[in-house]
Amino acid sequence: MRRLNMAVLISGNGSNLQALLDAAAAPDYPARIVLVMSNNEEAFGLKRAEDAGVPTAMIDHRHYADRESFDRMVDAALRTHEIELVALAGFMRILSSWFVHEWQGRLINIHPSLLPKFKGLNTHQRALDADERQHGATVHWVTPELDAGEIIAQSALDILPGENAAALQQRVHALEHQLYPEAVRKVAQLLNTRPA
Ligand code: GRF
Repeated sequence: MRRLNMAVLISGNGSNLQALLDAAAAPDYPARIVLVMSNNEEAFGLKRAEDAGVPTAMIDHRHYADRESFDRMVDAALRTHEIELVALAGFMRILSSWFVHEWQGRLINIHPSLLPKFKGLNTHQRALDADERQHGATVHWVTPELDAGEIIAQSALDILPGENAAALQQRVHALEHQLYPEAVRKVAQLLNTRPA
């Protein structure tokens, strides 16, 4: 079985990265993580990658004059590692449309809401404020418009009476850890059957 070369881009804790590392440890998983890239040297996810023996790259956005010159460095790192699929997992930088066009069809993200509801930040509190009965997470293709690309997979839960944002966030995170590896499996199988 062919295993797709995947990079995971992170900025923080990297619990979704961990879920992907764990899934990709299985020999029959259709993708392997060959690079973890962070824009934040404090990101705990870098340690997770090192523990798993996966190469890391640190590209600090503050060293670049504008968004596109940072994105060009990220692009170069991805090409050096012959990356075929890029998974954003808590990557807190908006990517330029130049980058998104370069990687369109090979670039996915996980977002903590039932898109198209609650694009952007602070999704858990906003779902509570809107008196939603359900909330969840979405994996989607990345397009130049933020959190607006076609949906690949979604997972929902019922909001509990009196639940606060922190508790809800924790439960959504647990859903994400199931959802992202499943969605990556689906995407990798699709890309593996398609010519490069
Ligand atoms: C997740 O909630 C993900 O949906 C969002 O950022 C968070 C990252 O968490 N894009 P972690 O770093 O994977 O723990």
